[in-house]
Amino acid sequence: MAKVHILDHPLIQHKLSLIRDENTGAKDFRELVEEVSMLMAYEVTRDFPLQDVEVKTPVATMTAKAIAGRKVGLIPILRAGLGMVDGMLRLIPTAKVGHVGLYRDPETLKPVEYYCKLPTDVEERDLIVIDPMLATGGSATAAITFLKDRGAKSIKLMCLIAAPEGIKEVQNYHDDVDIFVAAVDDYLNDHGYIIPGLGDAGDRLFGTK
Ligand code: PRP
Ligand code: URA
Repeated sequence: MAKVHILDHPLIQHKLSLIRDENTGAKDFRELVEEVSMLMAYEVTRDFPLQDVEVKTPVATMTAKAIAGRKVGLIPILRAGLGMVDGMLRLIPTAKVGHVGLYRDPETLKPVEYYCKLPTDVEERDLIVIDPMLATGGSATAAITFLKDRGAKSIKLMCLIAAPEGIKEVQNYHDDVDIFVAAVDDYLNDHGYIIPGLGDAGDRLFGTK
C-alpha cells in the first residue's frame, strides 16, 4: 500500500492556515500556495538518491554530494495545480512541466479531460502530480491513470488538502503512488467540497467565481 505523508512542518502548517482563511485575497493566496508548494517540494524529494562528485573549493578539492541524475516531471492538474508549479520549480529548476486539463462536472463530480501536453519521455521521469485539492479523488485518479497509460512508471501525488475519501480512492486504484499532503480534513459535503478545506482552489487562485 502506498504511503500517505502528512507534511506537518510548522511553516507549512502556519501558511496553510492563512490559505484557508476566507479573508485572504487572491494575491496573498497565490503567494502562499507558491511558498507552501516550495516547502512541500523539499519533503517530496527527500528520497532522491545522491552521488559523489568532486568539487574544487577555493582552498581544497573534496568529494561532495549531488543528486544522482534524476529527471523530474511536474504534472499540474489544470487549473488549480498551476498555482503550485512555480514554487516547486524554485527548488527543482530543471524539472519539465506537463499539463493535464481536467475539471469536475458539477453534477456528477466526475472528471472531464480537456487538455494534455506531456514531456515526451514521461516513462523515464519521476513524476509529481500536483493539485491543491484531493476531494473525491476522481481527478487525481484519472490523471494518474492517464500518465500510466502513456508509460509513466514513477509517480507521486502532492496536494495541499485531502479528504479521507480522496485518499482512499487514489489508494484503491493506484497503490504504488505515495501521497504527500499538508492536511487531511474531515469529510466532503454534498457538493464534493472538502470540509473545512479552503473553498474552491481554482476560483481563489484566479479570482473567478
Ligand atoms: C478541483 C481541484 C481538483 C479537483 C478535486 O478542480 O483543483 O482538480 O477539483 O476534486 P476531486 O478530487 O473530487 O476530483 P476543479 O474541477 O474545480 O477545476 P479547476 O481547477 O479548473 O477549478
Ligand atoms: N475542489 C476545490 O477546489 N475545493 C474543494 O473543496 C473540492 C474540490
